[in-house]
Amino acid sequence: MSETEFPLPRGLADRLRDILVDADYTVSGVRDRLGDAAAKALAREQLVPALRATGGEERLGLLLRLWWLQAPIPARAARSILPVDELAETGLVTVEEGPDGPAVRALVHLGPWELEDGRPGFVVSDPKVRPGSGAVPGNDHVVGAGGASANLSRLIVDGPFERALDLGTGCGVQALHLASRAREVVATDLNPRAVRLAGISLALSGVTGARLAQGSLFEPVRDERFDLIVSNPPFVITPESARFTYRESDLPGDTVCAELVRQAPAHLTEGGWAQFLANWTHTDGDDWADRVGGWITGTGCSGWVVQRDVQDPAEYVELWLRDSCEHGTPEYTRRYDAWLDYFDREGIKGIGFGWISLRNDVAQDATVKVEELRHEVEQPVGPYLPDVVDGAMTAHRLTDAALLSAHVALVPGVVEERVAVPGAPDPEKIVLRQREGLRRVARIGTVEAALASVCDGTMPVGPLLDAIAELMGEDPALLRERTPEALRTLISEGFFRVAR
Ligand SMILES: C[S@@+](CC[C@H](N)C(=O)[O-])C[C@H]1O[C@@H](n2cnc3c(N)ncnc32)[C@H](O)[C@@H]1O
Repeated sequence: MSETEFPLPRGLADRLRDILVDADYTVSGVRDRLGDAAAKALAREQLVPALRATGGEERLGLLLRLWWLQAPIPARAARSILPVDELAETGLVTVEEGPDGPAVRALVHLGPWELEDGRPGFVVSDPKVRPGSGAVPGNDHVVGAGGASANLSRLIVDGPFERALDLGTGCGVQALHLASRAREVVATDLNPRAVRLAGISLALSGVTGARLAQGSLFEPVRDERFDLIVSNPPFVITPESARFTYRESDLPGDTVCAELVRQAPAHLTEGGWAQFLANWTHTDGDDWADRVGGWITGTGCSGWVVQRDVQDPAEYVELWLRDSCEHGTPEYTRRYDAWLDYFDREGIKGIGFGWISLRNDVAQDATVKVEELRHEVEQPVGPYLPDVVDGAMTAHRLTDAALLSAHVALVPGVVEERVAVPGAPDPEKIVLRQREGLRRVARIGTVEAALASVCDGTMPVGPLLDAIAELMGEDPALLRERTPEALRTLISEGFFRVAR
């Protein structure tokens, strides 16, 4: 951040950070202070146990009530621990007359965060709009770090990188994740308020090297390239164009995600990664996998698209009405109905949610793997994600002849399971199961099972198949002809790897 862009006077940011850290306003400090029951109640949006657990005038309790629970605290107590007037000047708090005298109220939510190197950080957003509170987010509402933010952060590939971009930074949470991976971080957002709050999050977290910029999509970084681009974009598919900037764009359907993916390659260095969360529509007229894969095909990037969930239109509307409309009101019914009308008009039968990762391989033959993985996978995915993309690329490029002369090894962590009627000579079913990573399961035949038991990378596949054919009384030429396709799929899915 340059001095002119600094969202808080630097001295104030440093002092506030010291106060928060000294009071143990950290992830572990807050967890210990609240205790299990109050923390679980908070996760259910119930504040009462947390308010009871933070009564009195002790520092940590006061900070928690003020910044997290959005409860006013007595001005006298607030002034004893915080530079209230300076914070009021920057718009972080306000002083008002309460029933028991002057009180300080927070104008933002300021929560503790643990940086990836274990140091304490802080995330600043707009106060959470809790269901049932009667409040509705404003158009420029800056949403805090939530489930989707965590989802993306676990997907981010490991560094180190030179330059990284967080597009649609909001409260700045992804920029905090990037700060441990890249020497230079740029964070952008269409919403100027988001740019400011992200800047405060970064400043309070001691991240001083980041640049912040306001503008739509790649516009603020028009001529720049990055080694890593991440975005949790405003992907919600709605007829209410850009009503809430934090979740909706002014582009129809899933166009905002398509645009991000299409424009990203021009901003990637060679070998650079772009990683996005996305929604995409399912309609009768098209195959979602072809369409979403098509956003990447031909860009020179290898891609991996994973559908993690699909919701029907009613589930989707209920999910997104929950944080923006009071349930049971005429307004709720009207918006629900209008949203379903829109889906009907557009022929949208379902909405997919998932991950899109691309790597700029600058390759004409780059492959795009599109799949559905609805089960629990090992988290975080980021550390092993490059292996997933490499496996798909390797398999895609292997001709049958190259595969037969390749040295292939079973990937560590893969086990075999057999189902057989007791005493029967042959199993009914053989599967390979990954105990780590994507935890895939593949049904295989006896030839692949035999390969799995001998493939350790020391001998090429062809001679191994000849030996297996002899043992099984099969024609070696037939095995050499039939096996490569199945083996290629198993390499693409990470059960085997090409050792050399
Ligand atoms: C779902 S929030 C993500 C916030 C944060 N990065 C996270 O992971 O929690 C989407 C963000 O994109 C921003 N946004 C909306 N439209 C945009 C656009 N056209 N260009 C850039 N950012 C946009 C919103 O203001 C919002 O901060």
